[in-house]
Amino acid sequence: MLRTLYWTKKGVIMLDQRLLPGRAVYRRFTGYRDVADAIKKLVVRGAPAIGVAAAMGAALGAIKVKAKDADGFKKKFKKVLDLLASTRPTAVNLFWAIERMRRVADSSGNATAGEIKKRLVKEARKIYAEDIRINKLMGGHGSRLIKNNSTVLTHCNAGALATAGYGTALGVIRGAVDRGKKIRVFADETRPVLQGARLTAWELKQDKIDCILITDNMAGSMMQKGLIDCVVVGADRIAANGDVANKIGTYPVAVLAKAHNIPFYVAAPLSTIDMKIKHGNGIPIEERDSTEVTHIRGKRIAPAGIKVRNPAFDVTPNRLVTAIITEKGVVRAPYGRNIRRLFS
Ligand code: MRU
Repeated sequence: MLRTLYWTKKGVIMLDQRLLPGRAVYRRFTGYRDVADAIKKLVVRGAPAIGVAAAMGAALGAIKVKAKDADGFKKKFKKVLDLLASTRPTAVNLFWAIERMRRVADSSGNATAGEIKKRLVKEARKIYAEDIRINKLMGGHGSRLIKNNSTVLTHCNAGALATAGYGTALGVIRGAVDRGKKIRVFADETRPVLQGARLTAWELKQDKIDCILITDNMAGSMMQKGLIDCVVVGADRIAANGDVANKIGTYPVAVLAKAHNIPFYVAAPLSTIDMKIKHGNGIPIEERDSTEVTHIRGKRIAPAGIKVRNPAFDVTPNRLVTAIITEKGVVRAPYGRNIRRLFS
């Protein structure tokens, strides 16, 4: 299985996704500040992978805290968590993982700082292992929605590279392939950071899953020609009413799918659902550097000084979502009620 990131005694090892598909370089991170920087700079990306990286970063930070007692430890550990939480605002898995780590530290009773550190490392490794298990469960549930011999369109990268392993949207595709179905994938290139072209195309090629790369503006034409049977994407945050924030360009794909009567599925673990946010318009959307739009791979393609907007995510309203695939099963409208049931 493709390894996106993993824990070792000497630090966290992460595949530097900025260099893909040209080079597969694994880097070792030994401090939480470096892990925070790696999340910001997209060395590691994708909601569940960001959560796992933050948990491992928190564990690295905890190990290096020098404190006389548990209270001193907790004060310093808070700073570690605050820095990790400041990296990217949209993927709620980041805050979910940080919260889990905080709870371990807070509920440690009268354990020594050394004991708390051990528990934090254990928790980070648990979050990692759980993510892979959850993705496989989603793959199983989602595979039932994908017919044999069908063609699936996906946007961005919601694959092994976006998780601890196996993937969410690509996990559903893997789930179908693993169950003997013949599946073809259309991958949107996903401007401006090209996660589709660089990562999804690379990942599916590694697994010998049939993949056709298209630019984002080709999706409508492919649907019009009857070449797409369904859409499966991941999510960065899902509001309590089922509105879905995902990579910029997901919303137009959902609109196109609706116009062509094509099912639009979202695959995401429960850790991506934010019950504190009622509607999609409450989801914070990250704005990234303008050079992602004005430059392609370091080369300027737009006039210097041009004004730019660069929101990294958009929100697809729940009415465009055919179903949400989670580790607890497939959820359909009415989303408010059915999502709430997932947590009971
Ligand atoms: O900016 P990125 O590359 O972190 O954005 C990733 C996405 O939008 C994914 O679709 C989402 O995180 C789901 S990953 C399983």
